Amino acid sequence: MPSSSPIPASPLTTPAALPGHPFVAYREAALYVEDVALSDLASTYGTPLFVYSKAAMLHAVAAYQRGFAGRDSQICYGMKANPSLGVLQVFANAGCGFDIVSSGELERVLAVGGDAKKVVFSGVGKTPAEMRHALRAGIGCFNVESEAELDVLSRVASELGVTAPVSIRVNPNVDAKTHPYISTGLTANKFGIAHKDVLRIYQHAASLKSLQVIGIDCHIGSQITDCTPYLDAMDRVLDLVDAVEAAGIALQHIDFGGGLGISYQGDTPPQADDLWQQLLAKIDARGHGRKKIMVEPGRSLVGNAGVCVAEVLYTKPGEEKNFCIIDAAMNDLPRPSLYQAFHAIVPVVTHDRTTVVYDVVGPVCESGDWIGRDRALGVAAGDFVAVLSAGAYCMSMSSNYNTRGRAAEVLIDGSTVHLIRSRETVQDQLRLDRLVPAQVSQGNAMN
Ligand code: LLP
Repeated sequence: MPSSSPIPASPLTTPAALPGHPFVAYREAALYVEDVALSDLASTYGTPLFVYSKAAMLHAVAAYQRGFAGRDSQICYGMKANPSLGVLQVFANAGCGFDIVSSGELERVLAVGGDAKKVVFSGVGKTPAEMRHALRAGIGCFNVESEAELDVLSRVASELGVTAPVSIRVNPNVDAKTHPYISTGLTANKFGIAHKDVLRIYQHAASLKSLQVIGIDCHIGSQITDCTPYLDAMDRVLDLVDAVEAAGIALQHIDFGGGLGISYQGDTPPQADDLWQQLLAKIDARGHGRKKIMVEPGRSLVGNAGVCVAEVLYTKPGEEKNFCIIDAAMNDLPRPSLYQAFHAIVPVVTHDRTTVVYDVVGPVCESGDWIGRDRALGVAAGDFVAVLSAGAYCMSMSSNYNTRGRAAEVLIDGSTVHLIRSRETVQDQLRLDRLVPAQVSQGNAMN
């Protein structure tokens, strides 16, 4: 068994939080989220089941709030990480705004009574219809990602007779040193406006009557576990703040995006408050300490608040590999197949069984349908396992591939369980399909 593995070697006799998961712990042999045993949840709600800890989310928000104590600031939860309404409610009640990337996400914010003024709208492909929706709702800021988008937004706002608040998203050309698919701050990426063009585009924005320039924005990537790329990006952003303000365009806020990593496999990302202590020192030293600071964290607020519980369907010994086949698959947990991402997998109840090294896979008909490779587990068919760090970018990226229904989700608050999303049925999936008329389906190519 790898030494970094959080799999307990033997049943634990005292509560022990799992690494990176302050509210997920073994009590004797049973794994709990807060005060609820995962085996009880699996029996009641079935599997696969996403289980989220409210306390863990609030704990994560608190680290940012500590970092910004005494400052004008706004935490806009990057809701693409997990947009379930029950999750949004937790963050809205904690005072957060939201970073959205579509009209659909805006509808979700409004559905939980979120404050539109605390919403920022990011993304390279906002449609005029989405802009109208957001302007009518009165969102706080559009993070504009191209000159063409600026012109369309100006036209849409003028048609509505309103002024659109804008920030320019700058691409600082800083390597976030993360997986290439989740790196966004390099000139090779589609995001943001190149450093060299930023001043000219601010001047253009300031000349458009239906726009009000209010800030500057930057997001360099995701699952960043080192302070250096952030510190470098902040230097580049502050250079631009100086240049834009020297040209007579005042900026009220600096939005520094999201991206802070979590612990998946013994990673040790900086804590939000420690990181921000360093970033704020830079901002203060450059004379911008009175500007409002905005952030868009997603993963670092929910990633380690969630686990996915699955049932072991079969164990299948093989010549080269042993397989542990579980009822969660790449459609539920797409990160391993998409990014070769690591999620720890642990038993929901530790049994005195022989430990075997397995590839943990799902039922989907693809060799790429794996959840974990070479994992030492003492499990048998009928046992439950928990896939850890599953609060972010799992349910939100899930699909119906193989006509598999999406999993159910529960939110734990102490010993109280809230079902926040029911398991998707086949009827839910068939609802939008339409049969073709009989003569079409019975015809053949010769007719
Ligand atoms: N703001 C913007 C403009 C973003 O593009 C993102 C994430 C965030 C904020 C939130 O970033 P976070 O704090 O969660 O790192 N599916 C990938 C992650 C994609 C991130 C996309 N953008 C994964 O599973 O690793």
